Amino acid sequence: MSSTPIASKIIPKASRVKIDPAQIEYTSDKQKNAVQALIDEFTISPELLKDIKNNFMEGMQKGLKKDGETLAMITSYVMGRLDGSEVGSYLALDVGGTNLRVVSVHLTGGGEISTRQTKYRIDEKLKVGDAKALFDFMAVCVDNFLDEHQIVVRGDTQIELGFTFSFPVLQTSINRGTLISWTKGFNAAGMVGKDPVAYLQDAFNRRHIPVRVAALVNDTVGTLLAHAYHHPDTVMGVILGTGCNGAYIEQISNIEKWKGDAAAKEMVINMEFGAFDKERAILPLTMFDNKMDRKSVNPNKQILEKMIAGMYLGEITRNVLLNLIDRRLLFEGHISPDLNQMWTFETAYMSTIEADASPTLHATRKILESTLSFPATSLNDRQIVKLVVELVGKRAARLSAAAVAGILEHTGAWKQKSAIGIDGSLFEYYPSFDTDIMDGLEEVFGAAVRKNISIGLAQDGSGVGAALCALLAAKHSNGVV
Ligand code: BGC
Repeated sequence: MSSTPIASKIIPKASRVKIDPAQIEYTSDKQKNAVQALIDEFTISPELLKDIKNNFMEGMQKGLKKDGETLAMITSYVMGRLDGSEVGSYLALDVGGTNLRVVSVHLTGGGEISTRQTKYRIDEKLKVGDAKALFDFMAVCVDNFLDEHQIVVRGDTQIELGFTFSFPVLQTSINRGTLISWTKGFNAAGMVGKDPVAYLQDAFNRRHIPVRVAALVNDTVGTLLAHAYHHPDTVMGVILGTGCNGAYIEQISNIEKWKGDAAAKEMVINMEFGAFDKERAILPLTMFDNKMDRKSVNPNKQILEKMIAGMYLGEITRNVLLNLIDRRLLFEGHISPDLNQMWTFETAYMSTIEADASPTLHATRKILESTLSFPATSLNDRQIVKLVVELVGKRAARLSAAAVAGILEHTGAWKQKSAIGIDGSLFEYYPSFDTDIMDGLEEVFGAAVRKNISIGLAQDGSGVGAALCALLAAKHSNGVV
């Protein structure tokens, strides 16, 4: 049982030594020039960061006007804010990352939350197989969780569940919607255009599992709600993990496409910002990005997500390394059979390599030689690998900064004290992602932004946030919370 699952904290900085390209002892001018070309290609200048931010803001405006735009700007049906006084016990089911999680959340008021959770690995075959089998698996996991934690339901009552389903879903009420597309390697057949809640509820009902899906929640919306439970000045929830996306609080009067209740003043918008620049108009895509995109399960989609998110960074890095190897500019032109396989260079390796501050790059050597089975590597090899990792990682953080800056400028939130809750493995574990984002914000808004904006890790935002959403939905049974 954990009792402080989403406390906002400033992430401790990993000690970090960047490779200075001028200090590398290059084996040839050709190698030096190749490294310089990569630096040029992967560096997002302050001017480009601002251009991307401006383009992003135009995309936000378009998406608020009508459905079907590149930035979907989905109305979440979550209106109003939380103040931490909410109480109750709920279940949350979190689907959309590497693992599926079932969480039981107990809100005791006064910002106190306790949770219990179990993680279940989703088999790769289930992700791309039959949709019914995938939803049946979810129901079985919830059933097992109820048994494991001896959660007993009496009489005819049902447990209310918040369903964090972290894919683009066009919501039609707080617990209804249709899947626009799959992302993050999921591609279960026949689901696009269907309601994931209906599938899940049907799977519960067929098994007589006494659970009612009370709320359908995107992980960004959950993160925003969960962070707001502790920090009422929260304006935005962001996920930087397997995928990436953001949600923020918008004025209803700015949402031209909204045809529903106009009485409320605010609405949480799930932006689906990973889809930004489908048109390839502004993002500085390299041949390494294009190669990865072509071979992904959703080519030409989620272009920004593919330059930021943990699912893809390792593969982009691998593509760069392969290119250097093919040109005999790295590892003397030798490839390891492991690195030759797609998706083998995990983003988690990048975190370790980024944090490697040893003079001989010991941790980097371990990954290359022990994990990826390269024969003896030279210091020059390891320095170049680390530099490539740094370029890909920093570009991701600066693109995240452009998106966050776009939201802050659109809402004007940068001018006052505002909190941003961020969840996801990339943000949590990748060294100095937070500092790189803050540096980017400073380039856009000036140094004062550091005083106004606090970026906090909203751990378990999706679990707790889904429970908060279920609570709000139960309070307001009219379908709008
Ligand atoms: C999905 C979003 C989600 C994000 C982070 C994206 O692939 O489309 O709905 O919020 O990943 O999990």
